[in-house]
Amino acid sequence: MHSEHHIKAVQRIVGDWKRQGLSVGFVPTMGNLHAGHLSLVAKARQHTDKVVVSIFVNPLQFGPGEDFDSYPRTLEQDAVALAEAGVDLLFAPSVNEMYPHGREGQTQISVPQLGDILEGISRPGFFTGVATVVNKLFHCVPADVAVFGEKDYQQLLVIRRMAEDLNLPIEIIGGAIVREASGLAMSSRNGYLSEEQRAQAASLYKCLTAMREQIKAGRRDFGTLEQEACVGLQAAGFQPDYVILRSATDLEQVTETTRSVVILAAASLGNTRLIDNISFEIQ
Ligand code: PAJ
Repeated sequence: MHSEHHIKAVQRIVGDWKRQGLSVGFVPTMGNLHAGHLSLVAKARQHTDKVVVSIFVNPLQFGPGEDFDSYPRTLEQDAVALAEAGVDLLFAPSVNEMYPHGREGQTQISVPQLGDILEGISRPGFFTGVATVVNKLFHCVPADVAVFGEKDYQQLLVIRRMAEDLNLPIEIIGGAIVREASGLAMSSRNGYLSEEQRAQAASLYKCLTAMREQIKAGRRDFGTLEQEACVGLQAAGFQPDYVILRSATDLEQVTETTRSVVILAAASLGNTRLIDNISFEIQ
């Protein structure tokens, strides 16, 4: 596996591949890789001849008081996992390489509406930081296909919308959520949990599946179900931010004609904020 820190070198390598007629898949990450990230690499592999992974802890998407400084940085160990997974190129730029004019001087991309609800309310500026860096990364790695996890469901939709609105010549593919045996969705932030909290954390997915079963059994009092789910999370030791049922395609309110739905949840255990979701069809 080739590793690069510089944008120009990455653009040259990927450009050469494309001139040779090879297709290129791209998986952007912030590193501290786990099986969830590697499943996206495997998915890219199925679609393209060459696979590029980026590792960049993007300061633009962290708010004041969030965990930018403490976010786990494990580049050496990540590089070993990516080489074993058959990745062709690792792109790990410095903050200065990505933001030579500093954060303040950086042109930004914002995705209104879809980026202003749910996580956009709880984490102001988060999706602008994500859309901006992902747009830049797409120019550094001009791939044919990029793979994003459904774990960050709203992020996936925000990136799809950005690619569509800006006519980016890249296909955005979603990858299923990879979970621990307990049901807990894998996340780099799970490393912040104590052993006791990790056991408690499994309740988040249980809460989502329980709500899905109630809806599948015919309950349509969605507001009450959402409130009950929050009460359940509180009883399990969480401070819930939201549990909400929305249309899976655009996160709009569910109406009588909506078929594809998603339950999205965000809740904190101590100082660690976890998100999860479950999507399914209703009759
Ligand atoms: P990061 O949290 O490192 O996640 C990188 C990719 O892995 C995202 O597409 C995320 O949805 C996916 N992922 C994380 N956990 C997963 C799981 N358990 N199962 C499946 N996929 C999972 O998301 C980001 O980084 C950043 O916001 C980024 C898009 C790289 C922009 O900075």
